Amino acid sequence: MSLDLNLDKILIIDFGSQFTQLIARRVRELGVFSELVSHKKIKSFQIKQNIKGIILSGGPLNVYQLKNNLFDKKILKLGIPILGICFGHQILSKFHGGKVKKSKHREFGLAKIFKRNKSLLIKNFFKKKINKVWMSHADQVSRLPKSFKVIASSENSKFAIVESKIEKFFGVQFHPEVTHTENGKKIISNFIFLICKIKRNWSSKSQKIQLIKKIRLQIGTNKVICALSGGVDSSVVAQLLNKAIGKQLYCIFVNTGLLRKNEEKQVVATFKKKLKMNLIYVNAEKEFIRKLTNVSDPEKKRIIIGNLFIKIFERYAKKIKNVKFLAQGTLYPDLIESKSVTGSQTSKIKSHHNVGGLPKKMKLKLVEPLKLLFKDEVRKLGLELNLSRDIISRHPFPGPGLAIRMPGIINKEKINILKEADHYFIQALKDHGLYNKIWQAYAALLPVKTVGVMGDNRTYEYLCLLRAITSEDGMTADFFEFKKSFSQMISNKIVNSIRGINRVVYDITSKPPSTIELE
Ligand code: XMP
Repeated sequence: MSLDLNLDKILIIDFGSQFTQLIARRVRELGVFSELVSHKKIKSFQIKQNIKGIILSGGPLNVYQLKNNLFDKKILKLGIPILGICFGHQILSKFHGGKVKKSKHREFGLAKIFKRNKSLLIKNFFKKKINKVWMSHADQVSRLPKSFKVIASSENSKFAIVESKIEKFFGVQFHPEVTHTENGKKIISNFIFLICKIKRNWSSKSQKIQLIKKIRLQIGTNKVICALSGGVDSSVVAQLLNKAIGKQLYCIFVNTGLLRKNEEKQVVATFKKKLKMNLIYVNAEKEFIRKLTNVSDPEKKRIIIGNLFIKIFERYAKKIKNVKFLAQGTLYPDLIESKSVTGSQTSKIKSHHNVGGLPKKMKLKLVEPLKLLFKDEVRKLGLELNLSRDIISRHPFPGPGLAIRMPGIINKEKINILKEADHYFIQALKDHGLYNKIWQAYAALLPVKTVGVMGDNRTYEYLCLLRAITSEDGMTADFFEFKKSFSQMISNKIVNSIRGINRVVYDITSKPPSTIELE
């Protein structure tokens, strides 16, 4: 049985726009469940009664390229209210007798639209009859179908907002889902509440109740194992399963010796002592360091760590008899096709190690209770499940841990130095209210020693690199600009407190061309 939720929903048909996930998130932020499907996959017979409205996304195609095998046009004839955004708006017009052509003036970026007629879709949307909106299109509707009327226009798009009242079709040439569009959320909320008349059904509390119910049904009296890393996703999965099935859940936490300072103690204190989970703590520090001796190639490090992790996990998993399920923290963006089309080049650049990628050969059934949630929803659900803010708002931490923040060879001395430096940096960010403004931050230890002077003595010690970035999703990133006073304070603190470091540098490269991690 899958964990599909049987809720009323808004279906978003994805034509490949970079903003499609935002549409789904906006609907959910308004308290309504939404699902995203690719235009190539959804067929009219799959549109069930619990789909109360459809949103057609934008996309890079041209409507005249939209062949039958790329979109089942019968979906437009089911009598369900439809909101077309940008390319979706052009589809609605084109398939109801209108015309679309290349715009004389392409519109990219901010544009002003002005109100021309009344419509439920724009209730409380316009402030003083003119709004700023975000456009991104090269084609536009040049002739409206007969049943459609104009609601608003921009200087270059006569048909910026249109509607066909009888069919409940609405089209907007701009992107209401992006924050640059003034009051854009109002368009989405009017569509879902006033036009589709769907009721609010999506909150952290309702997700918790639904997911626990579904997990109990799926698991029955069986046993589940889960690789706990202490990161947000695996922590929320573990706590959700803990609430649903209690002692039928066995979490395995492998200390690779490459974790942040005191991380293993915190994980044991939270999950074993406070939350009373069946937590199997494996201290494999020595095994990892032994395998990594004299290895300095980044890819080799990643592969050694990934393989050893799986081996150790299997070793302990086998000790628990009659396990039927493996729990994983797969999230919704991992499943959405458009994400992988636009997405993760990183996996090709680096062999990723993730507790999610556990062994297929273990022949366990998967339980992936977060697979319909976005990251921000997972965080809120974690809070609803009484996980502490410290766990929920933690910066991402890579599976291979400190090994990839220490170019060159790895040894215990370097690990200890790095743990201290990272700890001081992260603590300073928290103390100065900066931690939550930064997407990810860490200290790294570079494999060079440089000369310094402390007191009257010459020093010859390691170089510490600090990295702090802002990002939306880790795919692109920019470095965070610290005030001079903060940079001065943290460099003094690290050099004065840690024997082994006598110089601190700050990484000012963005991604691309650099990556977030050093290796
Ligand atoms: P890069 O360095 O590729 O990192 O720009 C992008 C994001 O991915 C994280 N990262 C990993 N996460 N296993 C993980 O679970 C890995 O092997 C891994 N490598 C990088 C990195 O910390 C950043 O958030």
